[in-house]
Amino acid sequence: MTAAVLPAPRIPRHIAIVMDGNGRWAKLRKRPRAFGHRAGVDAVRKVIEAALRSGVQVLTLFAFSSENWARPPSEVRHLMELFLRALRKETRELGDNGVRLRFIGERSAFSSDLQLAMAASESVSIASLKLTLNIAVNYGGRWDIVAATRAVAAEAKAGLIEIDAIDQATLERHLSLAPLPEPDLFIRTGGEARISNFLLWHLAYTELYFTPVLWPDFDATCFQGALNEYARRERRFGQTSEQIAEVVDA
Ligand code: IPE
Ligand code: IPE
Ligand code: MG
Repeated sequence: MTAAVLPAPRIPRHIAIVMDGNGRWAKLRKRPRAFGHRAGVDAVRKVIEAALRSGVQVLTLFAFSSENWARPPSEVRHLMELFLRALRKETRELGDNGVRLRFIGERSAFSSDLQLAMAASESVSIASLKLTLNIAVNYGGRWDIVAATRAVAAEAKAGLIEIDAIDQATLERHLSLAPLPEPDLFIRTGGEARISNFLLWHLAYTELYFTPVLWPDFDATCFQGALNEYARRERRFGQTSEQIAEVVDA
């Protein structure tokens, strides 16, 4: 019997993460949810370092969903403050380490302070680009698809594109992650096995990995565990194992 042949590069180019479980982590320690969110920021730092070390090119982190506004106002306020503080504190060092920061999501809902800090972080010059870090804030996969559809409709109305010429690539060009490659690996911490309106379009063929580890406990070893699992997967994209093996053998 021949060993399973892995067609795709073993290191995912792009990893998307739903960072879930901060609240439960705090509850286990009998502390307020805010304590869990603060610990979550430390986990973000560790995972960025691990991604840099392993040669991942794009990391997309789900920090605040379009549905998270429904949380108690005090928790939303705390998350916004934490976000603003982290941006002001970390951006420069990220740039020095070759990390380019981008935000995806509907920004107009945020305070002007936060919008300015986001724009400032995105304009920091990068010494030598190693990793593109997308932070998804007030992001929803359905929002993304609707916004792209609107942009394509506007082009059609202006006579820039024929309706019959609209295809998947047209829509993709207008999605917020364009022109980056789609995620190879999706990780969700915290034990829930759902997408929660994250990158709906882009996850069509992404390898999904769910772990019960709560986000503040997710460290370099957990990250490596996910990479190892990814390396064992055979990505077939609709083809058969035999076809994939032929390509690898060629
Ligand atoms: C993820 O952790 C952080 C955000 C959604 C902002 P949660 O706050 O959802 O933590 P749990 O799921 O309640 O444990
Ligand atoms: C998903 O986590 C969003 C983020 C991690 C930012 P949630 O905790 O909001 O997801 P649900 O509500 O359990 O699906
Ligand atoms: Mg949660």
